[in-house]
Amino acid sequence: MIKIAVLVSGGGTNLQALIDAQKAGAFPNGEIVLVMASNQKAYALERAKNAGIESVVVSRKSFADPADYDRVVVETLQSRGIELVVLAGFLSILGKPVIDAYPGRILNIHPSLIPSFCGAGFYGLRVHQAALDYGVKVTGATVHLVNEIPDGGRILLQKAVDVLPDDTPETLQRRVMEQAEWKLLPQAVAMLCEQLEQEKKS
Ligand code: GRF
Repeated sequence: MIKIAVLVSGGGTNLQALIDAQKAGAFPNGEIVLVMASNQKAYALERAKNAGIESVVVSRKSFADPADYDRVVVETLQSRGIELVVLAGFLSILGKPVIDAYPGRILNIHPSLIPSFCGAGFYGLRVHQAALDYGVKVTGATVHLVNEIPDGGRILLQKAVDVLPDDTPETLQRRVMEQAEWKLLPQAVAMLCEQLEQEKKS
């Protein structure tokens, strides 16, 4: 069984999609055993509690030295035997020690079709505002592996979503979540759990 940790910072709708997908048997080889939030106020913590999943808060701001933050993150994950890390609306930057501890095993969902509207500073509604400002007719979501470049890792899955003439950043974000993010992330987790399980057998 692949032990999964989901890292969150906000509402946790992507976490909820993973919880619901797990219940529906979408990734029989994997189990979400930990939710790590970057702040105490994340509603995602409520979702974890309601699903009976252990949660912990590790706040980047409470560490003067980023190296200490990275060390605590790695220790928190490894102490629970985590093998797959999923960033779901997670807003803190993970340093090299974390990336190196989980090579090819950290997934992120980004709410655009990378390489558009991504990189430092592109998160949340800002991504959709940039898409509307540019006037693209199609946007979407991307699941990619995480490396030390923000949104720079190998792309695993993408799904396109139409931009409508009267869209606001809020209506566009909602459509990208419903039609793309909440479908792609469980799909990517299922893919990775299958792959990691096979690697264990070989
Ligand atoms: C949303 O902007 C979503 O597109 C992105 O992170 C933000 C919060 O997602 N992935 P969530 O509701 O906390 O999963």
